[in-house]
Amino acid sequence: MSILIKNGHIIYGENLEVIKADILIEGNKIVEVARSISRSADTVIDAKGKVISPGFINAHTHSPMTILRGLADDLPLMDWLQNHVWPIEKRLTSKHIYWGGLLGILEMIKGGTTTFVDMYFHMEEVAKAVENAGMRAYLSYGMVDLGDEEKRNAEIEETLRLLDFIKKLGSPRIEFLFGPHAPYTCSPELLKWVREKATETGRMITIHLNETKNEVRSIKEKYGMTPVEFLDDLGFLGDDVIAAHGVWLSDEEIEILARKGVTIVHNPASNMKLASGVMPLERLLKAGVNIALGTDGSASNNNLDMLEEMKIAALLHKVHNLNPTVADVRTVFKMATQNGAKALHLNAGVIREGALADLVIVDFNRPHLRPINGVISHLVYSANGNDVETTIVDGKILMLDGEVLTLDEEKILGKAEEVVKKLAG
Ligand code: NI
Repeated sequence: MSILIKNGHIIYGENLEVIKADILIEGNKIVEVARSISRSADTVIDAKGKVISPGFINAHTHSPMTILRGLADDLPLMDWLQNHVWPIEKRLTSKHIYWGGLLGILEMIKGGTTTFVDMYFHMEEVAKAVENAGMRAYLSYGMVDLGDEEKRNAEIEETLRLLDFIKKLGSPRIEFLFGPHAPYTCSPELLKWVREKATETGRMITIHLNETKNEVRSIKEKYGMTPVEFLDDLGFLGDDVIAAHGVWLSDEEIEILARKGVTIVHNPASNMKLASGVMPLERLLKAGVNIALGTDGSASNNNLDMLEEMKIAALLHKVHNLNPTVADVRTVFKMATQNGAKALHLNAGVIREGALADLVIVDFNRPHLRPINGVISHLVYSANGNDVETTIVDGKILMLDGEVLTLDEEKILGKAEEVVKKLAG
C-alpha cells in the first residue's frame, strides 16, 4: 500500500521548515520527501493549497468522557468530581465506554489527532474502538485505591487484565501503559507496585500530578513533602513517566522533573475551565522539561480539538505573563506534535524520511487561512480541527476529504445519544 501526496506545503523535520514538496508513503512509513516525485502509488492525493502537518498527539485525555460532555459545567474540581462526575461514572457500563470512546476517537480523527494517551476504566472497550478506527493509542486503566488494601488488589487485577488484553490484541498501534490516577488517590504501596511492574514489563506510566493547590496542600499534610518530592522519594519518577497538569510546581520540583526526564502534559483548557491555575510553562521549559499537550477529558474542555488547544495554550501564557513573546507558535506546535512523540518514545510527530506515516492534510483553501503568510502561525492561531480534511495513521487513510473511511459516523452519533439517555436522570 503506497500513498503519494503532491503539491502541498509540508512542515518538514524537527525544525518545522515549511517546504513545497511531495511525500511518498510506503507501508506505515514516510519513505521520500522531495520537490517532485514522479513514481506511481496506489493512492495519489493532490494537496494544492493545502498543508501537510505531522498528526497531533493528544498526550492526556479520557476519551469515553465524551459521554459526560456538557452534563456539569462551571464547578470547582472536587465538587465537579465528587458530586457530578464520579456518581455518573459509577453507572457507566462497558457499552457506554465503547460508544463514548468511539465518539471521542471519531472526533479526534476528524480534528487531526493521530495518537492519544488515555486513562479510564473498561479500557478493553476503548482498545476495541481504537482497533476498529485504525487510530494509534496508549491506554491505561485509571487506578484509585484511596489506601484501601482490598481496593488496591482489585485495581491491580484490573490493570493486569488490561495489560493482558492489549498484549493478546497484538495491534502495532495500541500500547498499554500504567495509570495510577494521582498521588492523592493512590497509596504509596500502589505507586510502588506500579513502578516495579512498569520497569519489569517495560511499559510506561501516566498519572495526574500537581493539578490543584489543594492537592499539593493535602500531600504536604499527609507526607510532609510536595507531590513531586513524594513520588521521587518512592523512586517512582523516570523518563517513562508522563504526568498530566503540573500546574502548582516549586522550583525544587521542576528541577527533579528535569533531572528524571519526566514529561509534563499541559492541559490549558481544562486548567482554565476548572480554575485550577496556570502551568509555569516558562520555568519548565527553562529547566529543560519536555512539555507535551493534551485536551484532558471532554467534560472539562469540552472538546478534543488539538488545534484549538494550541491557541488556548499560546494565549494563556501571554496574558498570564503580560508578555506576548511567551509560548510562541513554534514552541506550542512542538508541544502538540514532536514533544508528545518524545514522551512516548514514538518515531512520529515529525515529517521526515523513515518516520511513521502519521500525518494530516489541512485545507488552507479557506478565507480564514489566507493569505498563507505563516503556515505554523495559521495552524496555531487561525485554524481549528474542522479544517483538517485528511488523516493518515500508520500509513493508512482514516479520513479522506472530510469523510471518515474506517467508522460509520452517523451510527456513532446515534448510539452516543441512545446510550446516555437514562444516565443524567
Ligand atoms: Ni485528566
